[in-house]
Amino acid sequence: MSTDVTRLIQSHRSIRKFTAAPIPEEVLQDVLTCAQWAPSSHNVQAYSVIVVKSAETKRQLAVLCGNQKWVETCPVFLVFCADFYRLKLACEMHGRELAADEVENLLVAAVDTALAAENVLLAARSHGLGGVMIGGIRNQPDEVTRLLQLPPLTFPVMGMCLGFPDQDVAQKPRLPQRAVVHAERYQTEHLHDALREYEDITAAYYAQRTGGERTDGWTAQLAEYLSSPRRQHLAAFLRQQGFPMK
Ligand SMILES: Cc1cc2nc3c(=O)[nH]c(=O)nc-3n(C[C@H](O)[C@H](O)[C@H](O)COP(=O)(O)O)c2cc1C
Repeated sequence: MSTDVTRLIQSHRSIRKFTAAPIPEEVLQDVLTCAQWAPSSHNVQAYSVIVVKSAETKRQLAVLCGNQKWVETCPVFLVFCADFYRLKLACEMHGRELAADEVENLLVAAVDTALAAENVLLAARSHGLGGVMIGGIRNQPDEVTRLLQLPPLTFPVMGMCLGFPDQDVAQKPRLPQRAVVHAERYQTEHLHDALREYEDITAAYYAQRTGGERTDGWTAQLAEYLSSPRRQHLAAFLRQQGFPMK
């Protein structure tokens, strides 16, 4: 049983190649309004979205994101920032001091930001646009912060390339549902065979996508990816932005 919305959600794939067509302003506005209708923890709405259309800013961000050329070639690049700066101002309006030094606030802001971002991607797709989220925005957060003049108590969580798709890529298979959805309690007993099944499915997927060049599957790829630390600069950066994470 499906609906237009569930079919849209289930036809997701990231798009990294775009036509030269600009995104009509009214479409972009509609999509950005959808960001703000995401649910929000305690309605803190702890995020901001920077809309980047300038070719030069996109060029610089593409480099900062690890030379991801789609950041430069998409007509619109969005930077989703966790944002407690506005909340600090709200506290000050009432003579209160923001206690932003909790891990809780960091989680709240990151979750709020991600919910807004997914609303945007879905809304954009409903307009015929495509896109991809960009975690590479956290590669060099200091430089991104300087370039976009992000105030204290904000930090870039993810970017998003948006535009009209100029590629037709196959969907990336997802984990078997029994590895993800558990009835009544966490069911560890399904995990190993589900992981083995997914390894075979994804190995076949990558072999086809790369013309046989890549034959490892998801567990092999992630075992390699996750066995060394990533973005170790982030803790220091977050402290510098006003999140001591006590
Ligand atoms: C928070 C987040 C960060 C991501 N960062 C990047 C990125 O920096 N570059 C990129 O090309 N794709 C990025 N992706 C896209 C993922 O690689 C992609 O969603 C995943 O491989 C599944 O593929 P699919 O979206 O086509 O189904 C990111 C996705 C998310 C949710």
